[in-house]
Amino acid sequence: MRPRLTIALTRGRMVEEVLPLLRQAGVAPEESMNASRKLIFDTVATGVRIIVMRSEDVLVYVERGSADLGITGKDTLLERGGSGYYERLDLGICACRLMTAAPKDAPPVQGRLRVATKFVNITRRYFALQSRQVDVIKLFGAVELAPIIGLADQIVDIVETGTTLAANGLVPLETIAEISGRVVVNKAAMKMKYAVISDLVSRLEQAVGKSHSARGS
Ligand code: PRP
Repeated sequence: MRPRLTIALTRGRMVEEVLPLLRQAGVAPEESMNASRKLIFDTVATGVRIIVMRSEDVLVYVERGSADLGITGKDTLLERGGSGYYERLDLGICACRLMTAAPKDAPPVQGRLRVATKFVNITRRYFALQSRQVDVIKLFGAVELAPIIGLADQIVDIVETGTTLAANGLVPLETIAEISGRVVVNKAAMKMKYAVISDLVSRLEQAVGKSHSARGS
């Protein structure tokens, strides 16, 4: 049977936080996703399947229509851009901030600021808006290391609890964006599968509302 709906998800923390919402929305996977190396999972909803991938790839599957709907972080959406999808719902999960940070008590930087980050597009846009010329250095992780070792003056990175910054002698400076998990929908699928997609989105919306009131917010 052709799947009615394909949902793209990211493994790891995002899956852990999104699964309770999917369960409440009636699309729980039929088997445990974390205990398995499989990449495709049937769900208890007939014809609805979940596929898992890296967060950067969710938009690739959604934009090309291989997934009808995906869940990924706002950081990924801001960094990658793209126009083949609609951002339909803020799930409020995996909430954190995208921030600039620098070593504690660092003297003002003379000349061109060197900024290390995984988010080169967001970083270029952010400093361009301030008419500040920066040298953006692309890294793939452990970004906090760069200013300590002298590779960069500042970083742009995800800050959740602030523990990683503090452990490395860095202080947060400015918030660039509030980040959380978002539901994105392929534009063509939104038309062709309107009923099933809008039904799922509204059930997810209700699940988010319930989890907010359960947390007392
Ligand atoms: C993320 C982020 C920070 C850290 C922030 O890293 O890049 O390093 O979490 O969390 P905190 O404010 O609660 O300390 P991740 O663990 O995803 O690893 P990475 O450095 O390889 O991206």
